[in-house]
Amino acid sequence: MDVLVAGGTGFIGTALCEHLAERGHDVTAMARSPEPSSLPAGVEGVAGDVTDPESVEAAVAGQDAVYNLVALSPLFQTPSGLSHEAIHLGGTENLLAAAESAGVDRFCQLSGLGAAPDAPTEHLRVKHRAEVAVEAAPLETVIVRPSVVFGENSEFLSFVDATTTAYVTPLPAGGRMRFQPIWIGDLAPMLADCVDGPHAGETYELGGPERLTLADVTRLFYASRDQSVQIVPIPLALSELGLTLAGPVPFVPFGPEQAKALSVDNTVDRNAIDAFGVEASDLRSLADYLGVDTPAARDSLRPDADG
Ligand SMILES: NC(=O)c1ccc[n+]([C@@H]2O[C@H](COP(=O)([O-])OP(=O)(O)OC[C@H]3O[C@@H](n4cnc5c(N)ncnc54)[C@H](OP(=O)(O)O)[C@@H]3O)[C@@H](O)[C@H]2O)c1
Repeated sequence: MDVLVAGGTGFIGTALCEHLAERGHDVTAMARSPEPSSLPAGVEGVAGDVTDPESVEAAVAGQDAVYNLVALSPLFQTPSGLSHEAIHLGGTENLLAAAESAGVDRFCQLSGLGAAPDAPTEHLRVKHRAEVAVEAAPLETVIVRPSVVFGENSEFLSFVDATTTAYVTPLPAGGRMRFQPIWIGDLAPMLADCVDGPHAGETYELGGPERLTLADVTRLFYASRDQSVQIVPIPLALSELGLTLAGPVPFVPFGPEQAKALSVDNTVDRNAIDAFGVEASDLRSLADYLGVDTPAARDSLRPDADG
């Protein structure tokens, strides 16, 4: 099949393109200015901006399937001049319109857990509106909502690194919000299945093998550096205020939306990994990835471990 991966140069997109190419598909990665030398072997690049319908139409022409992985991160400040509405909703609508007129067979949309009309962040409310547009399109569609994804160059671990410190670190509400981190090496093959497997019309929530609080993730992260960390809880309202004040400061990656993103759990109601023949025991844990899957590190995850 000819497959276009919009956002194919990103963290998830690069891994997905690699899997699709290994399976024998003719894969093209679309981004605003893809660098050929950074694409996986056998993957072509095409320049396209989801806010520019003409460039999208040109990239989608002749494709059998399209993935939409174009993203503005919910964790870092939105760059000026861009908006979640323009990228996540307008971009999805442009890709859907191009896919429909090009006669594309299947469209796969990467969404996020918690996408809903009343979600606490603009990012998740717009992601919901994009899902509604996908569901209404006269195409075979698949929507995938992963929890946070970890792996080499993952934004999730960069975020923990950028926002915490070793030994003593303050976390909103003691970092009790929960994640279900999934390894990119587990997620990418499931995403690759979406293009030709029996998944049309489905919406899948996908998570890793365990639920970890932000405090757990922070402890594992520093354990992997042979450092301990004591979590100091700060009230959510106070951290929202602090992040709100930090919002307009250039180069400070926090803002009120980021504080809100950390106020809600990021776990699946029902893990749909079984739709891909995968069981929880097949999935890689974050502790294993970080090389700290030891009894001592596991003990440190007990909520009372901070004394
Ligand atoms: N990573 C996670 O933990 C996670 C968790 C849940 C859901 N998701 C979802 O999974 C999808 C992919 O996430 P990711 O982490 O792989 O994102 P990412 O690493 O930030 O990649 C984003 C991709 O979108 C491209 N892009 C950005 N703006 C564009 C535009 N205007 N036109 C065309 N391409 C554009 C980027 O390339 P250029 O900037 O070079 O154009 C890049 O290829 C997103 O929908 C995200 O919401 C991710």
